[in-house]
Amino acid sequence: MALLKTKGLIVGVVGATGMVGRELLSLLERRRFPVAELLPFSSGLRRTKVRFKGRLLAVHSADRSSLERCDAIFFVSSDAVSASLAPGLARRGIWCLDDSSAFRPAPDVPLVIPEINASSLSPDRRLVAGPNCTVTGLAVAGYPLHRLAGVRRVRLASYQAVSGAGKAALDEFLVQARALASSLKLGDGPAPIPVNKKARFLPAPIACNVIPQVGAFDSFGRSSEESKISSELNKLWGADVSVSATTVRVPVVRGHSLAVWLEFERPLSPSRARRLLAKAPGVSLFDSGYPTPLQAGGKDGVFVGRLRQGVDSRELCLWIVSDNLLKGAALNSIQTAEELLRRGWLSPRGFSV
Ligand SMILES: NC(=O)c1ccc[n+]([C@@H]2O[C@H](COP(=O)([O-])OP(=O)(O)OC[C@H]3O[C@@H](n4cnc5c(N)ncnc54)[C@H](OP(=O)(O)O)[C@@H]3O)[C@@H](O)[C@H]2O)c1
Repeated sequence: MALLKTKGLIVGVVGATGMVGRELLSLLERRRFPVAELLPFSSGLRRTKVRFKGRLLAVHSADRSSLERCDAIFFVSSDAVSASLAPGLARRGIWCLDDSSAFRPAPDVPLVIPEINASSLSPDRRLVAGPNCTVTGLAVAGYPLHRLAGVRRVRLASYQAVSGAGKAALDEFLVQARALASSLKLGDGPAPIPVNKKARFLPAPIACNVIPQVGAFDSFGRSSEESKISSELNKLWGADVSVSATTVRVPVVRGHSLAVWLEFERPLSPSRARRLLAKAPGVSLFDSGYPTPLQAGGKDGVFVGRLRQGVDSRELCLWIVSDNLLKGAALNSIQTAEELLRRGWLSPRGFSV
């Protein structure tokens, strides 16, 4: 396999101790990405180590001179960190694969899902963005249908896992869930649950709750997550599709779910759509039944079920579930890096291919 023949790379992970960073480290191992040396970085506020290939590695704050040693760097920390470090490093020839939202809208930065638009990669554009974890499932599953029948409008409601908001939000959820579980008594019936007002990392308590807000609202009442879905879907597809979304945080640990209505330019039957999705790259189709976040969590694919006709022959309804930390973030970035390896554009620097 081409990936394994490549001489080992020096790989940096900025945010190695976070939700996405931990998945990245385990995927680099699982997929046998050719890592000669791994450099893990974090905020540096706490002394910590991460495990990679059976060894414990010390994690350091992200200093420029260590980063400049890398051949490729995965940025999985924050918009601010990516914005301050990635452009300069990319200009020096280092591939920067960024999972933050800092550069996704930038016209000169490719926003890439390899199953859709690997063609937008170029050896001259070394800063590459990965999309938002909510849009990924929709983009991957909807793309073959869009190519055949032209999606003109998307409506969706999301049911987003707490891990999508990072490790602090997930810890907050787990603390609330434990407190509730120990305070509720079996057999008491649906007594009102005391509202835990201590929500620091999400807009409201999340245990036993549903929060119709992901990100800040703009002056039209649209959340930042809803706006990202629209702009990123159109950039990924190279399209001009209207998107109406309501994004919702639910008390799920990992796995984002979407109820989606796709309206097409041309009629598309559920049976034709099923045949297309059955062979679409990255998609696992449930012929009967449906995926749930518990089933899809920890798995690589985008899972589709409940595919059926909507109001008429130009509308399909789908239920889509994908792991926000894997295909929604870490896996997609690694697949992009693997594509760069296959093309011979990512190699140890100074080593000509
Ligand atoms: N979670 C998801 O489902 C998901 C999906 C798609 C994209 N993303 C994006 O991926 C990024 C990471 O998300 P996450 O959920 O993994 O967040 P997280 O769990 O909160 O982890 C954040 C990571 O960034 C590190 N960090 C904080 N400040 C830093 C600094 N100044 N320099 C270097 N590292 C720093 C943290 O280190 P410490 O341990 O020292 O705090 C930690 O390793 C975000 O940009 C997010 O928008 C997340």
